[in-house]
Parts: sequence; C-alpha cells; structure tokens
Amino acid sequence: MGFNLKGRSFLSLMDFTPEEINFFLTLSSTLKKNKYSGIKTKNLEDKNIALIFEKPSTRTHCAFAVAAADEGANTEYLAGSDLHLGADETVKDTARVLGRMFDGIEFRGFKHNTCEQLAKYSGVPVWNGLTDKFHPTQILADFLTIIEYKGYLRGIKFAYCGDGRSNMANSLMLGATKMGMDFRISTHKSLFPDTELVEQAHQYCKLSGAALTLTTNPVEAVGGADVIYTDVWVSMGEEDKIKKRIKLLHPYQVNQSLIDKAVNPDVIFMHCLPCNHTNETRITKQYSDICEVTDEVFEGKHSVVFDEAENRLHTIKAVMVATL
Ligand code: CP
Ligand code: NVA
Repeated sequence: MGFNLKGRSFLSLMDFTPEEINFFLTLSSTLKKNKYSGIKTKNLEDKNIALIFEKPSTRTHCAFAVAAADEGANTEYLAGSDLHLGADETVKDTARVLGRMFDGIEFRGFKHNTCEQLAKYSGVPVWNGLTDKFHPTQILADFLTIIEYKGYLRGIKFAYCGDGRSNMANSLMLGATKMGMDFRISTHKSLFPDTELVEQAHQYCKLSGAALTLTTNPVEAVGGADVIYTDVWVSMGEEDKIKKRIKLLHPYQVNQSLIDKAVNPDVIFMHCLPCNHTNETRITKQYSDICEVTDEVFEGKHSVVFDEAENRLHTIKAVMVATL
C-alpha cells in the first residue's frame, strides 16, 4: 500500500486516488461486517470530533455520531448558529481554535470555501459533510452499495437524471469517471455541470478508461444502465428556484417508463435522500409536481435507497478511522 491517509482531510473526491478510494471502500466493508458480527473495535478511543451543521441533516449527522460512538470517540454537535464561524469571527480564527480542541472536524454548510479554510487552518482532518459544491462522503456510500449489488465499479453504466449542477451531480461525475465507469448525465442544457468540473472529469476518463456523456435526452442516458440515480431538483438553500426547476426538469423525472427504457431487469435505482416522492413533504405539499422520482419507483423492486442510506454509516466510519 503506497499511500498514507492519516491526517488527511476529505473535501472532495479530487483529494484521493482511485486506489485510496478503493481502500476506503474495502475498509467500509470490513467495518460493516464487524458491526454485523458484533466485533467491537475502538479505533477512535478518546478522540474528540466536532460536527458542524449549517444546514439540516438526518443521515450525515447520524452517521458521524453513531460511527464515532461505535469507535469510542466523543462528538460535539455545533449548529451553524451556535458558532461565530464567518460572522463574528473569521473562519481562519475559528479553524485555529477548533484545531486546538478537536481531533477531527465534520463540516456541512453552504460555501465550499469555508470547508477548505477549516482544513487549511485547523491542522486536523476536516470531512466535508456537504457543501453547495460537493458531497463526497455520500459518493463512498453510493459506490459501496453498487459494489454490494453489482460486484464492481469499473465499466458500470451509471445514468444520472436531474439537476446537473448539484453537489451530488458534481461529486458523482468526478467519482464515477475516476473509478472507470460509463457515466451519463442527463439534464436541461442550462443545468449541465460547470465546464471546469467537466474538464476535470474528462481528464479522469483518460486515466481510468471511463466514459462521460452529457445529454439532454434522458432515454439516451438510461439505455442499458446498471444504475439510475437522481437527486432533488432544488438543493438546500435554493428553494426560491422551485418553479423554474419544475419546468426545466420535469422531462427528467425518474418514473417507471424511464426505468423500463434501461432494458435491464437488474437496474438499480439510487438517491442520496432526502427525496420528494410523495405529496407529504413540506415542499411537495405546495408544489406536488416537484417529485424527482415517482413513489412507484422509490418503493419499487429496483430501489436500493435504504441500503445506500445505511452505508453512510459504514463509509463515514471508514473515513474517520483511516484519516484520524
Ligand atoms: N444524503 C444526505 O446527506 O442526507 P442528510 O441530508 O439527511 O444528511
Ligand atoms: N443536493 C442536495 C443533497 C442533499 C443530501 C442538497 O444539497 O440539498
């Protein structure tokens, strides 16, 4: 093993080589087996971990808290409003204080730059629990789930339909091309990912043998797909864009007809969650046509979304164990 993960931050998938990503996935799998077998490991005994959340979270928050507890670490939950971060104190100063007290810092928030500054100035590993730009720990859970269902990553035909500029689309595109997948992204042309990231993904394709397709045609994207993935049409913080997004993204809704277009009985449906698939959530009560996936598909036989959600725990645990 020619690499050392100790002390490293996890800000985006650009930070790690395919070998290092594979290492995180193998370790996740081992830690998952240990948990299922009742084998207790205390790899993070007496470590203190800060969990900063400027935005709400169910899975990421719980995954960090439970993973830390399983491994013997203490956690301190800090809502954005609990801290002076970036308001009455510079991010740089907060970072230096937190670094004196904590062994590791999870950050979920708006600006990716805040996460980068925390990593730069705290002197301890910082893990990105989601920013407006990237959601990299989610991708580890997604890839572990694909391995569990399909056995491999290289060559997987992966179709992402929906908001092509979201933190999820960005992170999946980088991760999938890094790991040698055939990645297709299908969205309205005004929502294609940022050119700089597309260029980066093309570089990864050259190294890994991956393929990258950007298309406005969802049927083209899902042809022969092993995985069909979507995310919310408006991410946290951009709720004011709802009406426009419904208009632009309605043709990209994942419904049974689109799943059938994959012509693959074993295609799996994935979503990072939270998801709009019924008219029971805050946003869908008001805008019932904002569902990025139908309830039929979400609850149907192709859906693996709860395995994927559970894998947040095992993969986040692996990230903390490997980097602390
Ligand atoms: N997938 C995910 O990050 O979920 P939460 O927003 O609940 O953390
Ligand atoms: N793109 C979504 C992901 C939620 C896990 C958001 O940022 O709200």
